[in-house]
Amino acid sequence: MSNPPVYTTSSGCPISDAFSTQRISVQNNDYKYKPPVGPLLMQDFKLIDSLAHFDRERIPERVVHAKGAGAYGYFEVTDDISDLCSAKFLDQVGKKTKIFTRFSTVGGEKGSADTARDPRGFATKFYTEEGNLDLVYNNTPIFFIRDPTKFPHFIHTQKRDPQTNLKDANMFWDYLTANPESLHQVMYLFSERGTPASWRTMNGYSGHTYKWYNAKGEWKYVQVHFIARQGVHNLNNEQAGKLAGENPDHNTQDLFDAIEKGEYPVWDCYVQSMTLEESKKLPFSVFDLTKIWPHGDFPLRHFGRFVLNENPTNYFAETEQVAFSPSNTVPSMQPSNDPVLQSRLFSYPDTHRHRLGANFHQIPINCPLKSGSFAPQIRDGPMCIDGNLGSTPNYAGAYNCPVQYKASAKIAPDGVDEQYQGEVVPYHWEICDYDFAQPGKFWDVLGKTNGEQEALVHNIASHVQAAKPFIQDRVCEYFSKANPAIGQLVKEELKKLSKL
Ligand code: HEM
Repeated sequence: MSNPPVYTTSSGCPISDAFSTQRISVQNNDYKYKPPVGPLLMQDFKLIDSLAHFDRERIPERVVHAKGAGAYGYFEVTDDISDLCSAKFLDQVGKKTKIFTRFSTVGGEKGSADTARDPRGFATKFYTEEGNLDLVYNNTPIFFIRDPTKFPHFIHTQKRDPQTNLKDANMFWDYLTANPESLHQVMYLFSERGTPASWRTMNGYSGHTYKWYNAKGEWKYVQVHFIARQGVHNLNNEQAGKLAGENPDHNTQDLFDAIEKGEYPVWDCYVQSMTLEESKKLPFSVFDLTKIWPHGDFPLRHFGRFVLNENPTNYFAETEQVAFSPSNTVPSMQPSNDPVLQSRLFSYPDTHRHRLGANFHQIPINCPLKSGSFAPQIRDGPMCIDGNLGSTPNYAGAYNCPVQYKASAKIAPDGVDEQYQGEVVPYHWEICDYDFAQPGKFWDVLGKTNGEQEALVHNIASHVQAAKPFIQDRVCEYFSKANPAIGQLVKEELKKLSKL
């Protein structure tokens, strides 16, 4: 360093020796090799300052998606989609917006292996002139549940047993087979796509249905797809297991090294859209997160691309403290009534207040870049470091109140544009035959590529062999709902593996 800083305490007092401690000298020793025998002093602020902070170094890890890595980049508009969406960051072809993306696994702890069989999180924060837009997606176009009450139950079965603290194939498969709306996602997860070769070689999907508005106030349902220009590349079960042992941080390293070398990953952005009328004719609910929209009926429309070209300089400050939420949006992009999405709108900012504190929005990585924020009633609280809006009145509507925002879309205030009337019902979403139609089609799609169906069967059997025999039987019945051949093949594969 040309001008190295001087070590100080946290209050800035210069330190001449970072490694010395204050001790009572009660013996006339040769201090160079033998320390004085007296105790340390309470007044040694340098030591206490450092130990006390060390004791508080850890914050709660994310309850899901704890292991991950991120990078900065930019999004660029490539095609005019103003007939569909009036978001300002999309209003000109060629316009660029700064982004930060974090990739993650879901079930494992912060130190767990990047190559575990698990969906991958794919969350991107767009720092737009209308505030932060977070697209909090996965690398799978569907999900295990469609009713949010199931989320904590489901996640617990993928975590550790309350007594043994071990992952348990029995509870994993017990839950999934008892809740077969999970089948579509589980087939995806146990295909080779469940173990991507790197974060650069996988796609991202909104999964949920959202609503986008144009400037006339007309809206359509949409689903978004990010398609990797690097192509989709996966590991097989054995390669993923080997890498988990040899280099559990494989994907973290791959992303960092690629960006350092200037090999910037790129994703193309597409949107599928559907009118309200079209949604009524679907053989499934448009709010069902376990279903995809057939591409033949709802074609992909290209609208942008994004590039990741800059590594963060501090993992904790940026990647650990970044707080994504589907509730961070811009006026012309609104959530649909998908109940899982609606629940996520609550859950993310709630966990951020727990994980990062009430003023998590003041952490630089979470600050809106261009427009800033002006919410004069959101004041004080722990670690308020942004000047707290100075002498501005701490309520809205004061005599010097700011101008109300005029959204470019003629959407009703705060996205509320539909009216509902009816009874409150305790709705439990039942299973129907159609729930297994798309998993059946997915099996046929796998059959088009050499070895993909065999890999699915092998991957299922390799996992379920750790479960009890009656659970194994249930697993075979479960996959037979997609196609009876799968159950039979898994049974045979289990026999083969038991002889090894
Ligand atoms: C992370 C809840 C479903 C994608 C999280 C976190 C929570 C959570 C509490 C940790 C956030 C943090 O500490 O910053 C839920 C609930 C769900 C749900 C309650 C359903 C009821 C989904 C779905 C998707 C998804 C369907 C994808 C379509 C993600 C991603 C992250 C995440 C990508 C990691 C964000 C990051 O990198 O910081 N979720 N989640 N989640 N969730 Fe969900």
